Amino acid sequence: MPLHVLHVSSEVYPFSKTGGLADVLGALPLEQARLGHTVTVISPWYGELGGGAEPHRVAIVSVPGMFGEVEIGRLYQNGVTYLFVRMAGFESKQLYGFKNDVERFIFFAKAVPFAIAAMGLQPQILHAHDWATGLLPALIKFTPVPTTFQRVKMVYSIHNLQYQGRWNPWDVLSWTGLPSSLVHSEGLEFFGDVNMMKAGIVYADAVTTVSPTYAQEITTLAYGEKLEGVLKRVQRDGRLHGIINGIDLERWDPVTDAQAGFSDWQGKQAARARMQIELELDLQRPTVALVTRFAQQKGIDIAIEALGDLLERWNVVILGDGDLFSEKVLGLISRYAPHFAFYKGYNEDLAHQVYAGADAFLMPSRFEPCGLSQMISMRYGTLPIARDTGGLHDTISPEIGFLFPEASAPSLLEATDAAFDVWQDPTAWSKRVHAAMALDWSWESSANKYLELYQRLLA
Ligand code: ADP
Ligand code: GLC
Repeated sequence: MPLHVLHVSSEVYPFSKTGGLADVLGALPLEQARLGHTVTVISPWYGELGGGAEPHRVAIVSVPGMFGEVEIGRLYQNGVTYLFVRMAGFESKQLYGFKNDVERFIFFAKAVPFAIAAMGLQPQILHAHDWATGLLPALIKFTPVPTTFQRVKMVYSIHNLQYQGRWNPWDVLSWTGLPSSLVHSEGLEFFGDVNMMKAGIVYADAVTTVSPTYAQEITTLAYGEKLEGVLKRVQRDGRLHGIINGIDLERWDPVTDAQAGFSDWQGKQAARARMQIELELDLQRPTVALVTRFAQQKGIDIAIEALGDLLERWNVVILGDGDLFSEKVLGLISRYAPHFAFYKGYNEDLAHQVYAGADAFLMPSRFEPCGLSQMISMRYGTLPIARDTGGLHDTISPEIGFLFPEASAPSLLEATDAAFDVWQDPTAWSKRVHAAMALDWSWESSANKYLELYQRLLA
């Protein structure tokens, strides 16, 4: 039975992005549409949209309890309908980082059911992603929303448990009209605040996260971000599911990618030489790369701690930003270290070039719900060296990549040493490269797992 699925997210590639969440929303809906379902994706209409998108203005909607009206824009692309909500608080092209982020996204969530009803759409499944949309299930269950939503089943996906969205209950109750009786420890309440991530977990019909290992990890003290108790209950009730992400195989195709253009070991060697020459690296050494946000999660500090030892034998390339101190330190090191290149910022083209030209890709993550970079790397014949956690555990086999147990510099260096030894034997390395490039990271099987989950909820 074909379904109508509505995805709600604060980020959707190519229109808006800060991380992998956007990439998932840029790919999963397309795959679900390709499998024969009706798919709508709704997100905020930021001051500027990526991909040169100019949505058509299709409706003006008033939302009860909200000053002013919201404007709805629409685009059809690749079989998917994208709706954009233009409203107060989203004038900038910047997604987050405002003092009133929680308020902004609560009002976005409030607008969603009214926008959908105004468009005459009748989704059977509402699939909300991460903290920014976490209040939606509660809003739909406990506040007056259009009748279209009376029978909708709700799935809530956790992409990163660390960002939760907390605010004081008085404001949240007055903004949303939610009953104060929900503010208790089994409901919205969390250490005196309302917690949007917790709200999604508690009130959705099913909760998913982006890998089986992370689904298990978040029920423990070490990874649960103080929500392990709630998550354990959800797991016991059979409402918690781990479904691994895929990657967009057209966007990340080493054969058609202008920065790569290869399908085998020889071609990879050519791309590798091109990158090393362009970035002025030592052609006699292997190159290990990091492309990442400099968040505590990603362990950039661990990489910095190991950098001196790494630079004894490797070229190191780092692309990323997000932490002033790390940016300054890396900038300084790159002025003096001959085998090191640091590029501050977010740069898609350079990311493609690095995935194509590096030998190894480093991910010293403290936790990693799924991680997309390791899959992209493998597709480009770049072997991952990664902390053995979350989605990294589920996607990297020891026959191909190198996993290390601790989020620490010594543990990392043991793995890079092991990788270096293998690299010195071109037959052994090329065997791994070919095996990596042959792996299948398509979305089809995971898209089907979500569809099966939706069908079970509707049955
Ligand atoms: P997360 O969402 O936690 O940041 P993921 O591995 O899921 O991590 O996704 C990160 C995505 O963002 C990947 O596609 C990666 O290539 C991309 N990315 C991260 N940092 C940069 C950067 N500085 N420049 C270009 N792309 C980046
Ligand atoms: C989050 C996680 C990352 C995951 C991405 C997409 O940003 O940090 O591990 O790949 O979401 O699900």
